[in-house]
Amino acid sequence: MSAWVSSHGPKTHYGLSFSNGYSWRKQQQFAVSHLKNFGEGKKTLQNHIQREGHFLCEAFKEEQGHQFDPLVKINNAVANVIGTLVFGQRYEYDDIQFQTLLRMSAESVYLTGSIWNELYDAFPRVMSRIPGPHHTIISNYRRLAAFLKEKIEKHKLDWDPREPRDYIDSYLAETEKRKYDKEAQFDMDNLALCMVDLFEGGTETTTNTLRWALLYMLKYPQMQEKVQEEIDQVIGRSRLPTMADKASMPYTNAVLHEVNRKGNIVPLNMSRVAIKDTTLGDYFVPKGTVMITNLSSVLHDKNEWEMPDAFNPEHFLNADGQFRRRDAFFAFSAGKRMCPGEYLARVELFLLFTILLQNFTFSPPADEEPSLNSQVGFTQAPMPFKLCVLPR
Ligand code: HEM
Repeated sequence: MSAWVSSHGPKTHYGLSFSNGYSWRKQQQFAVSHLKNFGEGKKTLQNHIQREGHFLCEAFKEEQGHQFDPLVKINNAVANVIGTLVFGQRYEYDDIQFQTLLRMSAESVYLTGSIWNELYDAFPRVMSRIPGPHHTIISNYRRLAAFLKEKIEKHKLDWDPREPRDYIDSYLAETEKRKYDKEAQFDMDNLALCMVDLFEGGTETTTNTLRWALLYMLKYPQMQEKVQEEIDQVIGRSRLPTMADKASMPYTNAVLHEVNRKGNIVPLNMSRVAIKDTTLGDYFVPKGTVMITNLSSVLHDKNEWEMPDAFNPEHFLNADGQFRRRDAFFAFSAGKRMCPGEYLARVELFLLFTILLQNFTFSPPADEEPSLNSQVGFTQAPMPFKLCVLPR
């Protein structure tokens, strides 16, 4: 998801989020396969996230002894994960240029949920002459696209098809391979837009989910304790968490699923269009109708969840305390267009969350009751909050 409809402008048939048909399918398959198979041998996705988790802990340690807002550091860590997959580079948490870019990206995702964006999509010609925040989305997008295009140009200079380093390198190879398959649209403009979609889609959502996770730990310290007990039992304090640990950590897994459910990061999903006349329940939906599927209604359905409005990890645990899947868990949507980054998001959330709770106990600033109020743009994010860290 990106800042997207507006900023893609006339090229809405490009990128991952708003393209359709054959080209979308090929681009989507390629992206999913890259996200799953990134890094062979030592350089696995897991190693790379563990390494970023280590840097994040170091950055949190520096804040020991006073309260701070974890947003910038978490956002940077998450952006570094997707940045390494896409263009093979991470940035220090105090890199001013990268921080500016991340701020602009977050601003665009927020503004994408505004009425200005809706109006621009409906009346682009008129709105392009009227001042308003929709112009910010476009100018921010141009900065991000220029930053990413520069990465593509640099990659072209030292590209070795035998040693793909990241998504750009693999995409360059795929472009060669598919040069006679014009319909698949593997070209440099499309590469840049796919990168924007992966970068923005992969950063805001995961950052805000991790922020919700920490906020719930501040709000419910007894749950934080239970997660830490499980970490101590299964992993201990001296080695890094791995994905293999997840199967033995039903409570932590349930907490993270409940964060996804209750955090409800993309409440109105992405709007889609009916590609043919369809009947849905009692309703006839003509071809071309814009469909907005309300994920909140499913994630808070009182017929599906025992305590839909509470933060209750037990939703994902059976009577024996083992993890249980739920049919109404649609945080990543469903069907052909469901989130292609789900696998990556799950690995990131599990590893970064457990590394943080293995290393620190989190608490709210003295005499402050954590607020669970949210700010809703395109995504639903916690309001800015501060916390204190106590090394374990
Ligand atoms: C907690 C984290 C995440 C959540 C809750 C989330 C949720 C979603 C949702 C609800 C959609 C809309 C699906 C639809 O239209 O039916 C979506 C689409 C998308 N997401 Fe995610 N996402 C997350 C992480 C990621 C990550 C890590 C990436 C990239 C690496 C990513 C990339 C995308 C892209 C490119 C799309 C558009 C797919 C398409 O139109 O075919 N997301 N995501």
